[in-house]
Amino acid sequence: MSGKVLVVDDDASVQRLLQYTLKQEGYEVALAADGTEALRLWTSESPTLILLDVTLPTLDGYEVATRIRAEEGPGSHVPIIMLTADKDVQQKVRALRAGADDYLIKPFHPAELLARMKSLIARFSPSDTLVGRPPMGRIHAYYGAKGGVGTTTIAINAAIALQGLGRRVCLVDGNLQFGDHRVFLDLGLDRKSIVDIVSAPAMDGDLIRKIVQPHDSGVDLLLAPPSPESADLVTAAHMHQILELLRESYDYVVVDIDKRLDDVNLMVLDVAETIFAVMTADLSCLKNVRLVLETIGHLGYESGKLKLVLNRSNAFTGINVKSAEGALKRPIEFQIVNEYRGAISALNTGDPFMASKADSVLGRSVLDFARAVDKSGPAELAQLAPLASR
Ligand SMILES: Nc1ncnc2c1ncn2[C@@H]1O[C@H](COP(=O)(O)OP(=O)(O)O)[C@@H](O)[C@H]1O
Ligand SMILES: [Mg+2]
Repeated sequence: MSGKVLVVDDDASVQRLLQYTLKQEGYEVALAADGTEALRLWTSESPTLILLDVTLPTLDGYEVATRIRAEEGPGSHVPIIMLTADKDVQQKVRALRAGADDYLIKPFHPAELLARMKSLIARFSPSDTLVGRPPMGRIHAYYGAKGGVGTTTIAINAAIALQGLGRRVCLVDGNLQFGDHRVFLDLGLDRKSIVDIVSAPAMDGDLIRKIVQPHDSGVDLLLAPPSPESADLVTAAHMHQILELLRESYDYVVVDIDKRLDDVNLMVLDVAETIFAVMTADLSCLKNVRLVLETIGHLGYESGKLKLVLNRSNAFTGINVKSAEGALKRPIEFQIVNEYRGAISALNTGDPFMASKADSVLGRSVLDFARAVDKSGPAELAQLAPLASR
C-alpha cells in the first residue's frame, strides 16, 4: 500500500511516532506543525490522506478541514482523519461536521490507525480499489422471519467474512427504526446514517462515499438513523436509489432487514439478487417462513431467489432439520451452528466474532456460509477473482 500522508500535529513526539509507523507501512510522509502550513502542503503535496490534530497553532483542525472541503473541487475528496484529544462527543461531532471522514481518540493503537486509513483510502480511490475489474454489485437481503432469530448477527458477520475473502462489502442496516448495528459494532449516535443521504439536496455516489462509515474490518457501513422518528424520512424510492448506487461500488451490498413487509422492506426484497431468510427451528418461526414463502410466490419471484438459512441449527428445539424442511416443503440451504456464548459476548463487547474470533466454532460456521454464498449465484460472478490486495 503506498501513498502520501500529510501529518498535521504540533507535538514533535506525535509527529515522530506517526512518521515512523507510516513509513514502516510504505507511506511517504509530509509534516505540518500548524494549520496554515497544513493548507499549504495540502495544495503543494496533494496527499492521499490527511491525519489532522484538532488543537493546532494558527488555524485549528476544524478550520483546516472546513477550508479544505470548501476549496476542493466537486470530484475530489481527500480523506481526513481527525485526531481528537478526548472522548467528548461534542468534539467528535464537530470533527465530522467540519468534514472529517473519521476520527481517532488519542492515544490510539497504530494498528487501528492503519486499518482506518486503509479503509478510507480504498473508499476514496475506486480505481485503485477494484484492481482492474468492475465491482460484482450483488445485493443480498438478510430477512429475519421473526425478531431474535439472529438475522443481524449473521448479516454483520457474513459481511465481514466476505470482506475477508477479498471482496468489497457495504453493510446496510435496513432496520430503519430500531437498527442495531451501532450496538453490535460499538459506534456512537454521532456517526452519519442513511438519513444524511436522503436529506441532502442530491444523491450520488460521491455523497454516499462520504456517508458510509469505515469499520476496522474493512467493511463499509451504512447505518440506520440515530432515532426511530427519523426513519420515516427514508422512502422505498430512496432505498431503491441508494442500493443501486451502492451496487456500482461494491462486490456485495449486504442489507439487514426485519420481518415487516412494509414498502421499504419490499423494495429491498425486490432489488435483491438473493434473499437469505434467517430462521430457527421453532413453530412460530416456521409459520412466519411459510407466510413469507407465500408472499414471495405472490410477488412473482422465482423460487430460487430465496434461500433458507437455519440459525442455531444444532440447538435442541424438538424440530429437526428434516421435519422443518418437510413442513416448509423446501430444502434448508444453509445452517449456522448454535453458540450462544460466542454470539452474545461479541454483541455485548461491540466486537463481532468474525473480526476477533474467526477461528471459533461460530466463526468457522459463518465463514463456510460466506464461502458458499460467494461461490453461488451467476457463474460469471462466482468466478471473479477476489481483490488482489487490501
Ligand atoms: N448462531 C447463534 N448461536 C447462538 N446465539 C445466537 C446465534 N446467532 C444469534 N444469536 C443470539 O441471538 C440473539 C438475537 O440476535 P440478533 O442478531 O439480534 O437477531 P435478529 O436480528 O434476528 O433480531 C442475540 O443475543 C445473539 O447473540
Ligand atoms: Mg436485527
